[in-house]
Amino acid sequence: MVHYIRFLRTPQTHVGKKTKTVDIAAVVALTTDLGDAYYAQDIDLVVEIVEANRPHAVLHSHTLPWQASSRALKFTVHCPSTYTSRSARLHVTTKATQNAFSLFTVPNILDVWSPVFVLSDKQRTEPVVERDLLLPNKSHIRMWEETGDSIARHVWDAGLGFLMYFAQALSPSSATGMSRLTSLMRSSKARRLKVLELGAGCGIVGVAFAQLVKCDMLLTDLEDAQEILASNLRCASPMAGSTLRCEVLDWSTGVEDSCNAKYDLVLVSDCIYNPDSSLHLVETLRQLATRTPGLLILVGFKRRHQADTIFFERMQQTNFAIVEQVNIPLPHTLTDHDADVPTGEFYTYCLQPTLARPG
Ligand SMILES: C[S@@+](CC[C@H](N)C(=O)[O-])C[C@H]1O[C@@H](n2cnc3c(N)ncnc32)[C@H](O)[C@@H]1O
Repeated sequence: MVHYIRFLRTPQTHVGKKTKTVDIAAVVALTTDLGDAYYAQDIDLVVEIVEANRPHAVLHSHTLPWQASSRALKFTVHCPSTYTSRSARLHVTTKATQNAFSLFTVPNILDVWSPVFVLSDKQRTEPVVERDLLLPNKSHIRMWEETGDSIARHVWDAGLGFLMYFAQALSPSSATGMSRLTSLMRSSKARRLKVLELGAGCGIVGVAFAQLVKCDMLLTDLEDAQEILASNLRCASPMAGSTLRCEVLDWSTGVEDSCNAKYDLVLVSDCIYNPDSSLHLVETLRQLATRTPGLLILVGFKRRHQADTIFFERMQQTNFAIVEQVNIPLPHTLTDHDADVPTGEFYTYCLQPTLARPG
């Protein structure tokens, strides 16, 4: 399992007049994307107070022990009061996460950044956090997500799997099972691709693609996701020649008849968990593929439920053919409780032409 450091309580400062320190209190947990399990090994967490403005100096760093399978870790770190007027961020990470970052790989444990706060401010910070990963072209992918429970407004494992998929598809020796995407990515050197993402959530997949490949990227989701999606597009660093937009597209309504956009690629990450909405999703994909013969659809997910099969059955009934398939092991820490390697499954689909009926 990938584990995510989450704030159960976001940072709050207190200026200790007697102690001459600024005390920053927060509560974190190390959980999975579903929040259904806690990190089951002892590990040291590195808590840093980092200056918000350049040169982003680490004002204070402290190591705290996370005990196997704890549900939360409450802590207070103390900064010298000489920093009171500074703006800072609280960063919680591990040594291994810092190493993975410098190697451009997705870590087993995702670190977390608080919003900026002034060290003299007593307000608890907003219930949002930032994730920061490095893509193979050294561009930062910065994703804001909400700290509370929501489906659309945080990062899911399959999204991280997509980052690994894109990195492999772009490498000179791309793995088998992804040649269709590799050649499409290569064709973007001559022509800007038109790409659509369905159920984009925070936008990690579409934003990463536009940072790696020259394209016009449209990220879509329900109304519920638009605010976080828009803030993540503002933080994005699309590659020269790429554009990024977001808008509402509800699969239960489908694509508007007036829409005549022709896409090269549709991306779908971790969207097939609900049997009812899966049927609407397949219908939306059919509408899109009927308008653009040869459209490539890349569906990635982490298998969680029996009901996931409904999507694949309906795709087959709708005349979609799987043209390539690859499994990518997701970053994880194997424990006695978690014997299977978590896997991102990726399916490339094309709509088969309907044969004319004889006579
Ligand atoms: C598990 S999240 C995955 C988010 C993102 N793709 C990722 O991998 O991080 C599923 C997404 O599907 C979206 N979704 C669910 N039903 C939808 C519908 N009927 N129309 C459009 N999006 C929908 C949700 O809002 C949510 O953002």
